[in-house]
Amino acid sequence: MNHRKVEERFLVTGALGCIGAWTVRALVREGVPVVAFDLGRNHRRLDQIMTREELAEVTFLVGDITDLTAIEVALDEHRITNVVHLAALQVPFCRADPPLGALVNVVGTVNVFEAVKRRLDRMAPLVYTSSMGAYSAADVNPVTGRLHEGGEAHPTTHYGVYKVANEGTARIYALDDGLSSIGLRPMTVYGAGRDQGMTSSPTVAIAAAVLGLPFTITFGGRTLFQYAEDVAGTLMAASRSSLDGAHVFNLGGHPVDISTWVEAIEAIVPDAAGLLTITPTELPFPSEIDHAGLAAIGPVPVTPFLDGIHATVEIFRGLAAEGRLVGTEQGLAATPAGSA
Ligand SMILES: NC(=O)c1ccc[n+]([C@@H]2O[C@H](COP(=O)([O-])OP(=O)(O)OC[C@H]3O[C@@H](n4cnc5c(N)ncnc54)[C@H](O)[C@@H]3O)[C@@H](O)[C@H]2O)c1
Repeated sequence: MNHRKVEERFLVTGALGCIGAWTVRALVREGVPVVAFDLGRNHRRLDQIMTREELAEVTFLVGDITDLTAIEVALDEHRITNVVHLAALQVPFCRADPPLGALVNVVGTVNVFEAVKRRLDRMAPLVYTSSMGAYSAADVNPVTGRLHEGGEAHPTTHYGVYKVANEGTARIYALDDGLSSIGLRPMTVYGAGRDQGMTSSPTVAIAAAVLGLPFTITFGGRTLFQYAEDVAGTLMAASRSSLDGAHVFNLGGHPVDISTWVEAIEAIVPDAAGLLTITPTELPFPSEIDHAGLAAIGPVPVTPFLDGIHATVEIFRGLAAEGRLVGTEQGLAATPAGSA
């Protein structure tokens, strides 16, 4: 069993990514010490949503989760009590380089668990992101059409297989060592900073709309949207829960048709009417997802999707006004279709 210390000091792996940036921001706004551990050195996602004063509160460490010693040193030098593990390669990167994907997503995750296990007496439950990518669309219940909790996973990507492995790693560290953990399975996370990955294009579409550029969303049909700020809040609630054992929860949110998503963007950014189009191919993942089990960690934030799109438009408009909304940094191609 992990035992919490009263004074929290968080380490966030993958802190320079989309969900990481929102998690770091939320912790800084609470006045909680936070160490941002990431292989990268580009702080742009944090710069987009945090003030200079807020950024000055963050301790940045350049580190690789495939290096167990680097994680251990970070945990000890900064007397870390809470770990939120987000570092991973997303679906397209795992597909492009499966051995590297396995090294980062599987071995890297084992390293994070191992480092926490070796100092269990001072650690809150280890919180990490699994993914709805662990499931395929065919894993839904044939009668209800919903993904039921506890349903068997048959992933269709390397990434999904690695996430299933992560959940197994968590289970074995609980069995062998009493390490408590909470894994969350997001589906389609959106919001400022969501500029890469298989389900990033609904957010890229918001940036395109604000920039007045044409853009095609890479999938159609329906998906479960989760606002990045809500995911960050849920990760923190999980870290502060006192659950024992290895738990994995599906994340809630709003199931929305991509056509409805485009209409919502056009309503908020009227000048973008006609710029956004949709690839009809549906995602190979469930969209109707049971998530009642998540209540075990207490109340969590769920922003209505219209509010989340609105907030994202406001952030992007603010950046654009300062000349800081750069298409290539927001997942847009260097030469937009139709402009060459
Ligand atoms: N975004 C989504 O919709 C979504 C859905 C389901 C699950 N997830 C999971 O949530 C987590 C965070 O997702 P995100 O959207 O913020 O991803 P992201 O791609 O925006 O960020 C990932 C971060 O991990 C870092 N990283 C990569 N390899 C590393 C290494 N070896 N050592 C240290 N850092 C490394 C990258 O530099 C990057 O900053 C991931 O585990 C992802 O699989 C995301």
